[in-house]
Amino acid sequence: MKVNGKTYKTIWYDEKERTINIIDQTKLPHNFVVKKISSLDEIIYAIKNMEVRGAPLLGGAAAYGMCLAIKKNSTDEIIDDAAKKLINSRPTAINISWAVEKIKSELAEVSNEQKFSHGIKVANKICDDDIASCQSIGSYGYELIKDISDNKKNKSLNILTHCNAGWLATIDWGTATAPIYYANKRGLNLHVWVDETRPRNQGSSLTSYEFNHENIANTIITDNAGGLLMQQGQIDLCITGADRIISDGSVINKIGTYLKALAAHANNIPFYVAVPTSSIDWDTNNANEVPIEERSGDELSNITGVDNKGEIKKIRIYPKESSTLNPAFDITPGKLVTGIITEKGVFNASEQGLKQLKTIS
Ligand code: MRU
Repeated sequence: MKVNGKTYKTIWYDEKERTINIIDQTKLPHNFVVKKISSLDEIIYAIKNMEVRGAPLLGGAAAYGMCLAIKKNSTDEIIDDAAKKLINSRPTAINISWAVEKIKSELAEVSNEQKFSHGIKVANKICDDDIASCQSIGSYGYELIKDISDNKKNKSLNILTHCNAGWLATIDWGTATAPIYYANKRGLNLHVWVDETRPRNQGSSLTSYEFNHENIANTIITDNAGGLLMQQGQIDLCITGADRIISDGSVINKIGTYLKALAAHANNIPFYVAVPTSSIDWDTNNANEVPIEERSGDELSNITGVDNKGEIKKIRIYPKESSTLNPAFDITPGKLVTGIITEKGVFNASEQGLKQLKTIS
């Protein structure tokens, strides 16, 4: 996707310098900064501090992280230690362990001398495959959007999305946003309501930023506004991404997704979740077993923005004495989800639907 007219991916390997380049998402939307990463510790810092974030991108970052760990030396101990550190760096997005396991099993097939270069090849392929998956999600999702749009007879279609499941959360295109990009490129008249997504504001800082650079009409709303807009008929469909979907069809995604799904259900509004199959946890069928990441209360009590002089400032907005709780994800039962859009097609968010999807994996 484009930033100031130039096409970027969110992560890429620099062969000459043997480093990884990332777009530092903590600096957006005010500054666009590309950061060089040259060690496992640096990529773990970037993951934990959300310089890179979003389930599919975390998978790509973890894959390259494994390679950085074995740049100089590649014993089994180093590989296992790197795998453990990466898997624990952010616990909810399943793509991290998916990518780590993939790299580990590939590394086991080659000699020590080949491990680094082979690892990079596999990590590059994980990223290329993710782009292809998002494009395929885009074309399946476009068909759904088009059907709903056709019923509106030339009136603008209003889509609500939560958090950032855009190209910045993947390698390119995004999950929830790929169908929107496809629809826009094919000339559909649409507008996106972007949930601000407190506390990290991925919606206002990242999703709206992405749409602005691709000239897609969008409006930022508070996380609490969606219910009213649904009652007023101002939302035709919702599309979100997910950090993990388990085998009973439950969707684990950014905190606040569940409330939007409940409101959509109450107002008969289709609620779709778009994911690559790398975000599906086939081995878990009880949502209570999924670790829900709890992040620092500082993310609630402090807010960062730009002042009149263009300087980035962080200020506290809560009373010093107040306690906080900051769970980062919630669980949306499959019965509230109209369908899961994947690179292999659209499936029911149920055990049956997931079984059907697995047969074509
Ligand atoms: O905590 P984050 O920003 O890494 O979480 C990402 C999300 O929850 C997004 O909503 C997204 O839908 C899942 S990743 C495409």
